[in-house]
Amino acid sequence: MLLIVVPIRITLGEPSRCCGSALAGIQRNMDLQLQDKTALITGATAGIGLAIAQELVREGARVVIVGRTRDKIDQAIAEIGPGVVGIVADLTTAPGSDPVFAAAPLVDILVNNLGIYEPKPFVDIADEDWLRLFQTNVMSGVRLSRHYLPGMLQRNWGRIIFISSESAVMTPPEMIHYGMTKSAQLAISRGLAETTKGTAVTVNTVMPGPTRSEGIVSFLRQMASDPAATDAAVEAEFFSKHRSSSLLQRLIEGREIATTVAYLASPLSAATNGAALRVEGGLLRSIV
Ligand SMILES: NC(=O)c1ccc[n+]([C@@H]2O[C@H](COP(=O)([O-])OP(=O)(O)OC[C@H]3O[C@@H](n4cnc5c(N)ncnc54)[C@H](OP(=O)(O)O)[C@@H]3O)[C@@H](O)[C@H]2O)c1
Repeated sequence: MLLIVVPIRITLGEPSRCCGSALAGIQRNMDLQLQDKTALITGATAGIGLAIAQELVREGARVVIVGRTRDKIDQAIAEIGPGVVGIVADLTTAPGSDPVFAAAPLVDILVNNLGIYEPKPFVDIADEDWLRLFQTNVMSGVRLSRHYLPGMLQRNWGRIIFISSESAVMTPPEMIHYGMTKSAQLAISRGLAETTKGTAVTVNTVMPGPTRSEGIVSFLRQMASDPAATDAAVEAEFFSKHRSSSLLQRLIEGREIATTVAYLASPLSAATNGAALRVEGGLLRSIV
């Protein structure tokens, strides 16, 4: 039997600020071959989108982030450092995509990350709420994919990655309208992947579980029995009451999502197409 031992070098660097993450302080040496790629990430001035931008810049990609205000774009650029540019655009409306198409007519990697959520009892979800979440979470990604996919197919290389959620396959009763948008992303992603047959373009979805971000911290507080409790108590109560099946039993850190996205963005992930990858802390109990 031939045993091949591949040396993997892991360098311990400066401890990162990112608290519970198993990635804190770890630098990897795997080359994701993203140096000649341009990536566009929506909803990228905070949270998971910002973490994805940071990870792709770290891997040497040219990164374009989209947000609604110059101020937040500038703050994000300052946080990320060199290697990133920003476009101010509101992707919640159809004409809102135009500045993006004008400033970045071609990209190699599109990360449809923009998405909003809010806890609301089903009977209180008005038509406008259903449509607002659909426009923001679904149509933003549909419009950008419709624009960028043909060029990727023509150049015979590209990556489209939808940031969905574990809520796509386990509809949260506290926000059914959100669950609907996340399920829709899975359908769109798989359908688009079918159109890439025989090419080097892939379309995949990442399904994060509860991940630390401004949005989720305010969401957890809205779900808390004692809104004045500490952040740690609010987080612990959320996992024991609402996500008890989570194996991680803590919020995921943005970078723990971003590393999977960076892998999917890489040429190394060529054989993964039409997939929905779970990065949800093990809270989905199904075995596939
Ligand atoms: N965090 C989680 O626990 C979690 C779990 C599963 C899936 N996800 C998915 O991951 C993606 C990112 O989530 P996140 O929690 O990282 O996001 P977030 O931190 O709440 O927001 C990210 C960005 O979205 C933009 N945004 C916020 N509210 C908006 C609104 N009403 N209309 C338009 N844009 C708005 C903001 O950018 P500007 O103000 O600069 O425009 C903000 O910087 C979403 O698709 C979400 O569904 C998140």
